[in-house]
Amino acid sequence: MDRIVIRGGVPLAGTVTIGGAKNAALPLLAASLLSAEPLVLANIPDLADITTMANLLVQHGVAITIPAELASGARGGRGRVLELSARHITSTTAPYDLVRKMRASVLVLGPLVARCGRGRVSLPGGCAIGTRPVDLHIEGLRRLGAEVELNEGYIEARAPKGLRGAEIVFPCVSVGATENLLMAATLAAGETVLINAAREPEITDLAHCLVAMGARIEGIGSDRLTIRGVTSLHAARHRVIPDRIETGTYMMAAAATGGEVRLEGARLDHVEAVRRILDAAGVCVTEAADGGPEGAILVRRRNGRLAGVDVMTEPYPGFPTDMQAQIMALMAIAEGASMITETIFENRFMHVPELARMGANITVHGASALVRGVPRLTGAPVMATDLRASVSLVLAGLVADGETTVNRVYHLDRGYERIEDKLSACGARIERLRG
Ligand code: UD1
Repeated sequence: MDRIVIRGGVPLAGTVTIGGAKNAALPLLAASLLSAEPLVLANIPDLADITTMANLLVQHGVAITIPAELASGARGGRGRVLELSARHITSTTAPYDLVRKMRASVLVLGPLVARCGRGRVSLPGGCAIGTRPVDLHIEGLRRLGAEVELNEGYIEARAPKGLRGAEIVFPCVSVGATENLLMAATLAAGETVLINAAREPEITDLAHCLVAMGARIEGIGSDRLTIRGVTSLHAARHRVIPDRIETGTYMMAAAATGGEVRLEGARLDHVEAVRRILDAAGVCVTEAADGGPEGAILVRRRNGRLAGVDVMTEPYPGFPTDMQAQIMALMAIAEGASMITETIFENRFMHVPELARMGANITVHGASALVRGVPRLTGAPVMATDLRASVSLVLAGLVADGETTVNRVYHLDRGYERIEDKLSACGARIERLRG
C-alpha cells in the first residue's frame, strides 16, 4: 500500500491548479443514465471515486469514450472530457462489489427507475463517518410512485408505469437525496416540488446540466426546486465546476505553512464560508485580478500566528463538513482555543487521535471538539479512515517538525488528484512511496 512521506516546515509558495469537483462529477456521470442520447462532460477529475462510478455505469451498459475530436490525445484543456452514451441499459442492478466501494453509487437509483421503470441497488451499509442511511432517497422515490422494497441487502424500486410528480418535503437537508430525486423527477409525469432541498453548488451544477439535457427545473440554487417532467432528455455538453473542497484544502495548506499560494481555476463564491473563517484566523483570501475566464484565488497568511476561531459545520452556504478535519489541523497550531462543532455527521472526529499523536491538544465533547492551539506539531506515522481525515493529516505533516508518514493513501486518491505533485510544485517536501 502506498504511503506519503512529508518533511514539514516549508512555507508553500506557487500555483496549484484546481480540478473538477468530484462531488459534482459523480451525480453528473449518473445523470447520463437518464437519456438515450450522449452526454459529454468536461473537466472530469482523475480520481478513484470517478473510476468506481464509471465502472458501475459501464456495468449498466453505458458506453464511455473520449469524444472523437479529442481522441488524438488532447484532453480538452484541464481535466478529462468523457462522452457517456446510455442508449441501451443492459442491467438495472448496481451490485454490492461496486456499491460498497463508494456510497455515491446510490445515485444511479433515481435515474434507473425514472428511465427503465426499475432499479436495484445494493444498500451502501455503514461507513467510517457514521451510519449514513438512505431512507430519504427511498421515501422520496416512494412519493414519486415507486414501490420500494429492501431485499437481501438490496434496495429494489419498481415503477412499471413510470414515476409521477409529487411534493417532497425533506425532514433534513441531504445532498445525495436531493440529487437522486431531482434526477428522477426530470422524467416523472407532472410536477415535482422538492422542499428543503440541499443547495450545494454541486446540486446547482447538476441542475444546469439537466436543463441543458432538456429538463424543466425552476428554483435552481434555492432550497425549493420545481421540476416539470418531460418524456425524454436529449444530448448535451456540460463542464464540471471546480472542486470547492480541493480549493479549501489548498487554502488551508497555504494558511498552515504561512505561505502564499495561487489557486488557478478556483471559485471564491463557492468557498465564502471558508474564506470568512480563514479571515478571522488571520489569512487573506482574495480573487486574483488576472484570473482569466475560470478565475483564480490568492491565499496569504498575515503576519504572526493564526488565531483560534470557532467553527460549526452546516449545509451550504455554511461551513462544509468536508472541510472540518482540515480546519481542525489548522486550529491545532493556532494561538488560543477553537471550538469545532460537527452538525452534519455523527462520528466524524476520527482524525482527532491521530492529530493528538502529532502533539495536538484536542478534547471531544459529543459533537464538539475543543482545540487548544500548540506552538508546534511533531511528525509521526499516522493513518486515517476517510478521505478528509487523511488530508488533514497531510496538512498537519506540512507544518510539523520532522517526518510524517501518512498511511492508507488510497483514501486520498479517492478525492485528491496528484496531491503530492501539487504540493511539491509549491515547495513542499513530500513524496509518495509505492508498495
Ligand atoms: C454528500 C457528499 C459528502 C458530504 C455530504 C454533506 C457526495 C458524493 N458526497 O454526501 O462529501 O460530506 O454530502 O455535505 O456528494 N441522511 C439521512 N438519510 C438519508 C440521507 C442522508 O439521514 O437518506 C443524513 C446523513 O446520515 C447525514 C446527513 O443526512 O447525517 C447529510 O447527508 P447527505 O447530505 O445525504 O450526504 P451525502 O449525499 O451522502
